[in-house]
Amino acid sequence: MKKVFITCCLPDNLENLLGREYEVEIFPEKRPPTKNEIIKYGSDSNAFITTVNDIIDKEIIESCPCLQVIANCAVGYENIDVNYAVKKGIYVTNTPDFLNETTADLAWALILSTARRVTEGDSLVRKGEFRYWGLSLLLGHNVYGKTLGIFGMGRIGSAVARRSVGFSMRVIYSSRNRNKKIDDQIGSVLVDFQTLLRESDYLVITAPINEDTRGRFGMEEFQQMKDTAVLINVGRGPIVRERELANALKKGVIWAAGLDVFEKEPEVDEELIKLNNAVLLPHIGSGSVETREGMAKMAVENVIGALNGKVPTNLVNVDVLRNM
Ligand code: GLV
Repeated sequence: MKKVFITCCLPDNLENLLGREYEVEIFPEKRPPTKNEIIKYGSDSNAFITTVNDIIDKEIIESCPCLQVIANCAVGYENIDVNYAVKKGIYVTNTPDFLNETTADLAWALILSTARRVTEGDSLVRKGEFRYWGLSLLLGHNVYGKTLGIFGMGRIGSAVARRSVGFSMRVIYSSRNRNKKIDDQIGSVLVDFQTLLRESDYLVITAPINEDTRGRFGMEEFQQMKDTAVLINVGRGPIVRERELANALKKGVIWAAGLDVFEKEPEVDEELIKLNNAVLLPHIGSGSVETREGMAKMAVENVIGALNGKVPTNLVNVDVLRNM
């Protein structure tokens, strides 16, 4: 019987989907497994279902000779050595699309909570400091009618941009290519990176991590932004230099930031944690019941496909097919 190793608990009933035909082993702890634990549980496995916590490197792949598929339960897959998986003829799959709208919702939660100081207000009330209505109490900035900038107008970026219509915003973006579909839908405009920095009131990063995006936002970039601007990151943490962002927020170079992802997750820069004008979330962009269930189901289906000799639907390393 083929074996599937799952590094975290799946939503109810999903492992049953596998259980009828495969031996299923689920990592028993609440935390993610260490490298040695992945090897221990996975060395006789034909399939892995992993999350972004699990670094699946060359050594792990070498130690698991029966591996046929690594199904990452995420749209990103930088945690997996995809090139080495190609060499070994192992399918790597992800869970794209299902999470676009949910992640866009969270980007908007960050836009609105930074703009209107929602977390600061909540904490003021809980501390018993709401004593009277104040004309200048916790003033934020309007969202309505402002300029929304998107860094990376892919599927998540488009979903963020579409939501701006109700706020009558102008939308500009910087991306590898023009996204004609969203331009036709909402009148967004592709601009160069400097214009994006200069003109955005709310600049939302939805890009994936790659050589072009790593470390792209640092002090030099913040200095080109408006001092009333807000930076939101729901893409990947290492796109932003966190310590430089903390300094920019402290000095008022930009006004606020909302982050769902961090440079060295789960660590967060200690200077950022001290700041009231940063809203910090624990990487919950796709974290709705419906979406996490859908993503886990996709990962399970990718495993079933691969173990049944089919090319899985969400294959990211198509190069593997050339080696077969
Ligand atoms: C989460 O960040 C994902 O890549 O799905």
